[in-house]
Amino acid sequence: MKNTPHHISLSKARLQLPSLFSIILIVFGFGLCFGIVLTVHLKNVSLNLQFTQLSISTENDNNNNDDKNNEFVVVSLPPPPPPPTLPVPTKSGTEKCGRRTDVAHDMSDDELMWRASMVPEVSEYPFVRTPKVAFMFLTRGSVLLSPFWDLFFKGHDGLFSIYVHSSGLSSNWTEPEDSVFYGRRIPSKEVHWGKVNMVEAERRLLANALLDFSNQRFVLLSESCIPLFNFSTIYSYLINSKYSHVESYDLAGPVGRGRYSWKMHPTVKINEWRKGSQWFEMTRDLAIKVISDKVYFPVFQSYCNGSCYADEHYLPTFVSLRFGKMNSNRTLTYVDWSKGGPHPSRYIRYDVTREFLHKLRGDRSCEYNGRRNETCHLFARKFTPHALDRLLRIAPKIMRFDS
Ligand SMILES: *[C@@H]1O[C@H](CO)[C@@H](O)[C@H](O)[C@H]1NC(C)=O
Ligand SMILES: *[C@@H]1O[C@H](CO)[C@@H](O)[C@H](O)[C@H]1NC(C)=O
Ligand SMILES: *[C@@H]1O[C@H](CO)[C@@H](O)[C@H](O)[C@H]1NC(C)=O
Ligand SMILES: *[C@@H]1O[C@H](CO)[C@@H](O)[C@H](O)[C@H]1NC(C)=O
Ligand SMILES: *[C@@H]1O[C@H](CO)[C@@H](O)[C@H](O)[C@H]1NC(C)=O
Repeated sequence: MKNTPHHISLSKARLQLPSLFSIILIVFGFGLCFGIVLTVHLKNVSLNLQFTQLSISTENDNNNNDDKNNEFVVVSLPPPPPPPTLPVPTKSGTEKCGRRTDVAHDMSDDELMWRASMVPEVSEYPFVRTPKVAFMFLTRGSVLLSPFWDLFFKGHDGLFSIYVHSSGLSSNWTEPEDSVFYGRRIPSKEVHWGKVNMVEAERRLLANALLDFSNQRFVLLSESCIPLFNFSTIYSYLINSKYSHVESYDLAGPVGRGRYSWKMHPTVKINEWRKGSQWFEMTRDLAIKVISDKVYFPVFQSYCNGSCYADEHYLPTFVSLRFGKMNSNRTLTYVDWSKGGPHPSRYIRYDVTREFLHKLRGDRSCEYNGRRNETCHLFARKFTPHALDRLLRIAPKIMRFDS
């Protein structure tokens, strides 16, 4: 970028050459150089950022400008090229393992869903594709337990992707550059507990994650979730599962069928109404069906308000109605409702003991691919930031993060 003045003076000098031909050549050459600079700019955002900051500090020295907000001089640099008209997401499939890319874009929700719903007609991939698990964090603000997750993901680049949808006042957070969460915040909107915009956020996460063809499994997590096993165990459990994990059951009474709204009839009938945990895990095929649903979701958007709680009913109902055969009907995320009330138990510092973590990992057995399996839950919530130091100390040994 700093070379621009140099280029200009060079071309000025050469302009004095009499031949029209050489002028054309120079203009062409200049365009080529500029193109290359732009391509490099596109390809490596982080390198570019460092370079930018470097050049700013030298400029500032020259200008004797001591303004603390100099960082924002970034704005005066040449703007990034406009997004291509058809940003077909092929890059992610061929990109090198572990290479981090920014997930920012300026697509509207409609455009995003439309692009993400595309399915390749040719079933063989023209590149080596390692299936990845998309870890999608639906948060208010930052991912509170990110240091613990950083430890969990360490050494497994290329097998996972991270997406964060964060709403709330403090959503202007930044993660340190060496964190796996760095640059992974997707364009997010406001979310309210129990409202249908929570499901809109989940669909937004799914759509962003679907843009990467390597993502094969999609897990929804909150900022208070922790993994209960090491990465390789969780990866193999998910990748090898024949079923999606969307909890779905029929429940009589006020917090079950009582939340059904008759305005949804006849698209959704009361005997089709299901309930289940919001925290799901699903296959790529199901994720595409979810973001493409133009029949059931609009009905929920219009009529599932007030005491309806779309986040606990839309997916359980939709999936059991249309894709029940491919669903395990259980959630992989442990949560303790035993104390009653609208919110589950929260775990603070002294709750985190070896015995407690062992209990969460093996509290009961479940069916997995049609057979009994000792593992039911891969994740657990709700852990507060006060639990972080003990988690970092105790959990990696129990969960065998690096054996
Ligand atoms: C970021 O969020 C904090 C509150 O958490 C607020 O005080 C600050 O002004 C925000 N900064 C910007 C640039 O929006
Ligand atoms: C449970 O599933 C895991 C993950 O696939 C597998 O490694 C383990 O052997 C299974 N256990 C049993 C008892 O089948
Ligand atoms: C839910 O939405 C419908 C249609 O927009 C409206 O008539 C109704 O008052 C709303 N109910 C609540 C509890 O917000
Ligand atoms: C889950 O529920 C659906 C009905 O909604 C059923 O068809 C399916 O067999 C159930 N899955 C399992 C693994 O039992
Ligand atoms: C993950 O945990 C399993 C079982 O606890 C263990 O066998 C395996 O070696 C661990 N993997 C890594 C990479 O540490």
